[in-house]
Amino acid sequence: MALKVGVVGMGGIGNTHATAHQTDDLSQLVAVCDVVKEKADEAAAKYGVKAYYSVKDLLANEELDIVDVTTGGYENGSWHFEPTMEALQAGKHVLCEKPLSNDIGECREMVRYAAAQQRYLGCNLNHYFTPTAQRAKQYMDEGQVGETVYCMFKVGFNGGEETYGLNKSPRFYNPYGHMKAFLTHPFSVMRYFCGDITHVQSFSTKPGFRKNKGDLLVSVNSVHVHFANDTVGYLISHRGDAVWGLGGWWSCEVAGSKGTFCIENCAEKLTYWGAPKPGVNYGIGEEAPPEVLDTGLKEFGVTFPNRIHAYLEDVTNGVSLEGLRSSGRDALATMEYIFAVIDSYEQGGALVRPHALPTLHGDPVVERI
Ligand SMILES: NC(=O)c1ccc[n+]([C@@H]2O[C@H](COP(=O)([O-])OP(=O)(O)OC[C@H]3O[C@@H](n4cnc5c(N)ncnc54)[C@H](O)[C@@H]3O)[C@@H](O)[C@H]2O)c1
Repeated sequence: MALKVGVVGMGGIGNTHATAHQTDDLSQLVAVCDVVKEKADEAAAKYGVKAYYSVKDLLANEELDIVDVTTGGYENGSWHFEPTMEALQAGKHVLCEKPLSNDIGECREMVRYAAAQQRYLGCNLNHYFTPTAQRAKQYMDEGQVGETVYCMFKVGFNGGEETYGLNKSPRFYNPYGHMKAFLTHPFSVMRYFCGDITHVQSFSTKPGFRKNKGDLLVSVNSVHVHFANDTVGYLISHRGDAVWGLGGWWSCEVAGSKGTFCIENCAEKLTYWGAPKPGVNYGIGEEAPPEVLDTGLKEFGVTFPNRIHAYLEDVTNGVSLEGLRSSGRDALATMEYIFAVIDSYEQGGALVRPHALPTLHGDPVVERI
């Protein structure tokens, strides 16, 4: 039976989620909610469902399985905590947009409370719900990447000084808006492929044209990391400060002892290079032809229905709470790394160890070990 869903926060992204729920067989969109009446009413008319203007009323009047929180706020996350906690308290499963919250204490509390309530808290870390990441993971699972050696991630908005405009919205008129709102994505993908990060070092900055306008945003984030499995990594991200180069807006290269892959433009293209075979000699600059998966998917919007479907599948199938894909704990991990980036930046590039994640306990009912 389809899961009954209410979407809270009917901005652009709330509407993207509502559309995904309406077209997915595993869910039934039954209500939308926004504190701004016109937004709730407009969305309700569009989807043919009931409008609510507070989460309290929504929860009191609808029999929901899932509350999908797409609010936002300062640094894109300050309005996530309240509706998420209200929904969890009412016994609902929650899918929350990223970042879980812009406040690390709130992130930790959301994950702790969802576990205590035994509800599925998922996060829309959608960037690896793609055919390219799926195929890349398959290369890894088949042993075709081998021991991972390094992971390099480059992601940002195409821009430069010609298109720059000072943004005075509290979303981004602060030092850490880009880090908190955006680095969740690359960190989630790096962790998906290479596991937990144990050390972080950041040299972050902003270009002169931002400095001259008195822009507070630390918009260029250069981060060096070490993973628990001894892989090393590098992440460079910016908010429209420079012009794209190779790989477009999003590229992730994971290099291993048996093969290397690179994903370009998120959902669009995956290239895999196998390791040289013994006895086959290539000169410098020569290589065996790589395997290329070109999906033709240039539009990153495909990641939303894919990720939302995965959440619906996990809830429908009753996976273990800790086995939920792109869980609240996974989202917390990305926030712990981001707060380590901030800490390192504030200390002029000091080496920082991210705060430990909550221990995984396993589930004897669902898992056989
Ligand atoms: N995963 C992705 O790829 C991706 C991409 C873009 C944005 N996002 C995230 O999506 C979220 C929403 O982004 P947006 O651009 O649509 O924001 P928005 O500000 O346009 O919309 C948010 C809406 O939430 C409403 N709202 C706030 N608090 C509420 C509450 N307690 N109850 C009911 N309604 C409430 C606001 O009135 C507003 O209409 C952000 O957290 C952002 O980080 C994710």
